Amino acid sequence: MDQNYSAAKHNRLNLTLKPVFIGELLFIQTLTEPAYAYENGKFKKVIAPREGITSDFVREYAQSYSSDIFLHDEDYDSLRKLLNKELTKQTRSLSIGDATKNATRQVNLLSMQMSNLYKNPFDDELLTSQFQNTKNLSSLLLNNKGIQKNIYNVLSNSKYHYTHTQPLLSSIMLLSFMQETRLFSEKEMEGLFLTSYFKDIGMSFIPREKFEQSHLNDFDKKLFAEHAENSMKILEGRVPLSNTQLNLIKNHHFLNHKIQSLVNNKDFQYPDEFLAGLESNLVSALDILVAMTHDRPYRDSVSIFQSLEVLKSVLSDEYPQEFKALVIFLKNFTSK
Ligand SMILES: [Fe+2]
Repeated sequence: MDQNYSAAKHNRLNLTLKPVFIGELLFIQTLTEPAYAYENGKFKKVIAPREGITSDFVREYAQSYSSDIFLHDEDYDSLRKLLNKELTKQTRSLSIGDATKNATRQVNLLSMQMSNLYKNPFDDELLTSQFQNTKNLSSLLLNNKGIQKNIYNVLSNSKYHYTHTQPLLSSIMLLSFMQETRLFSEKEMEGLFLTSYFKDIGMSFIPREKFEQSHLNDFDKKLFAEHAENSMKILEGRVPLSNTQLNLIKNHHFLNHKIQSLVNNKDFQYPDEFLAGLESNLVSALDILVAMTHDRPYRDSVSIFQSLEVLKSVLSDEYPQEFKALVIFLKNFTSK
């Protein structure tokens, strides 16, 4: 069913509709309200109420439009509940059966739920659920070293918005590298995996369209610059992360600032009350590496080699052994 809407209706819809990842529709049989695609600046009705939703429809929609479909509140809420239920069910059976299949499904469900969490960062139930389900994913990955690279690649090639995949990609790579170094206990690896995964939740204060723009005004730049501190504020007292971990989240871009100082030939000053160690350097370094090696709407990706060159300038003096180990690790992790 195709129908374009007048400007007035369009503006009203703009206020009430919420985007969801098209794949989420596979959890629901029918909708109670129409669903819309956004095309050429207009909403276009693509599903009628009570119309059956098939996997063919989902695939065709993704090909013809985008990875987002727009729903009314009631359907959005039902879908959110269904997704949460599905994730809980999946987490319970995570250790039973094929590890790759389970981890792939878990990573997909977490990415969809991360999008909901970004829309409602102060929803306690949602945050607790995401935290617990991520913790279980970290155990599954730690117990199945052989699947880590595969899961990373699946997520890397997925169609989720980059703000939802970037934290998980950098956390999977971090976990895999930490395990390789044998320098960390299981508890430490799990803690750093969770710290790394939740470090960008402060991005939820930034309007979605800003993530597509290459030029930002001063206000937007400030919002982006404050996302790390906002992540810390969102999480503080609500999830079982230690003060050290929360402080790492608050300062997780310190390495970016260090690189910037180097480029501009300026002295770099560590933030107050922040003691950078190997852990924080790794969290920050892999975040930079994963971001640089993935396309963004406003810039292309660069090679692993180029991103390692950048990291070398800030890591190799202080952590020569670890940097060497990282280069060797990445050769294997990123090979086909
Ligand atoms: Fe960040």
